[in-house]
Amino acid sequence: MRSDSNSDHGSGAHDSAGATPHVVLGVAGGIAAYKACELLRRLTESGHRVRVIPTESALNFVGAATFEALSGQPVRTGVFADVPEVAHVRLGRQAELVVVAPATADLLARAAHGRADDLLTATLLTARCPVLLVPAMHTEMWQHPATRDNVALLRSRGVVVLDPASGRLTGVDTGPGRMPEPAEIAEFARLLLERRDALPRDLTGRRVVVSAGGTREPLDPVRFLGNRSSGRQGYALARVATQRGAHVTLVRAHTAEDLVAPAAVRLVDTGTAAQLREAMLAEAASADVVVMAAAVADFRPAETIAHKIKKSDSGPPPLSLATNPDILVELVKNRPPGQLVIGFAAETGDEHGDVLHHGRAKLDRKGCDLLVVNAVGEGKTFEQPDNAGWLLGADGGQLELPSGSKALLASRVWDAVVARLD
Ligand code: CTP
Repeated sequence: MRSDSNSDHGSGAHDSAGATPHVVLGVAGGIAAYKACELLRRLTESGHRVRVIPTESALNFVGAATFEALSGQPVRTGVFADVPEVAHVRLGRQAELVVVAPATADLLARAAHGRADDLLTATLLTARCPVLLVPAMHTEMWQHPATRDNVALLRSRGVVVLDPASGRLTGVDTGPGRMPEPAEIAEFARLLLERRDALPRDLTGRRVVVSAGGTREPLDPVRFLGNRSSGRQGYALARVATQRGAHVTLVRAHTAEDLVAPAAVRLVDTGTAAQLREAMLAEAASADVVVMAAAVADFRPAETIAHKIKKSDSGPPPLSLATNPDILVELVKNRPPGQLVIGFAAETGDEHGDVLHHGRAKLDRKGCDLLVVNAVGEGKTFEQPDNAGWLLGADGGQLELPSGSKALLASRVWDAVVARLD
């Protein structure tokens, strides 16, 4: 495990003038082009200077005026507008990230074969920054051997081609081919700007199980014991693993309403610690990697009352608690040979020691291979988009995880996992 803190992956790439990064947003001609407007809004609101380059056919779905108004930048589709500016070279060279969403089957084919027959494909040829292609098309087109080959070729060159979601496509058909939601694409865009590096497909063929969210332990039909976990870190781990090629199952307890389910991930819903335990033990049996990112309630009401507990003059009812099983410890005990188990530790530090001291003790107690240690407290980790901490290894390794998006922390955890799987 590396022990440096790798200082070049801070909160985003910046140009030499210190301004916000240049992002090129390519839009190809598919019905999902309307979702590019929401992606554009998210990118500009998070401070990026965005230049939209649609293809001619994209303008059948969304007008140039919409992209110009939302980006505050002119919109061109061909290389013969503003010739003295040599836009196809300048835009590609200046870009710190190129995102194409949606990327149609035709766009993937043209990009894979180095065509430069419009401003977008010419820009893809001149860009030397990370490139993120977000396919959206009918299932048959996505599964066609021609498209599969084009995707494989692009990925072999370090282009990040997201796997599409399964779900409703245009009309009545459903299946893989749906463009991931703008929030998810924006998360990957930020991750590539932070990493300044491609996302390798180095988990291809691996089976990964991730738990996320906070369990809720019912007291009566309207009350529960719960915690503040939003599930964001677990979702980010699942999202990044699936786009690194893994087959991912996300076992989720209660999560924040605004979280978007990761594309191409299998979901298992649970509520209580007992349900989460049952699902995790079943799913982990055939997994290569198991990550316990869920916040499991340590205690539950000893008894769940079938009716709503009423107020009474004699004061509140006595609350008696029972201890929940430690799922992580059980997963470690029952793991098949070769499986890696990763835990999380939420620590505040106290008079007995700091956050890292408690983290190291927890790693020994739980027996897992890696432990992500987060400092928690007011405004830290829980319900926040960003995270930081340390990754501790059972072999004594310690890696600082500098502040960044939860997707960045997830990608560093997967880097360490891949190094150990190999
Ligand atoms: N965990 C678990 N089952 C529990 C409690 C925790 O599997 N009943 C897992 C969490 O998912 C996490 C790790 O154990 O991966 C550490 O959780 P944390 O809440 O930090 O620690 P606890 O074990 O609850 O210990 P303490 O509250 O004393 O810090």
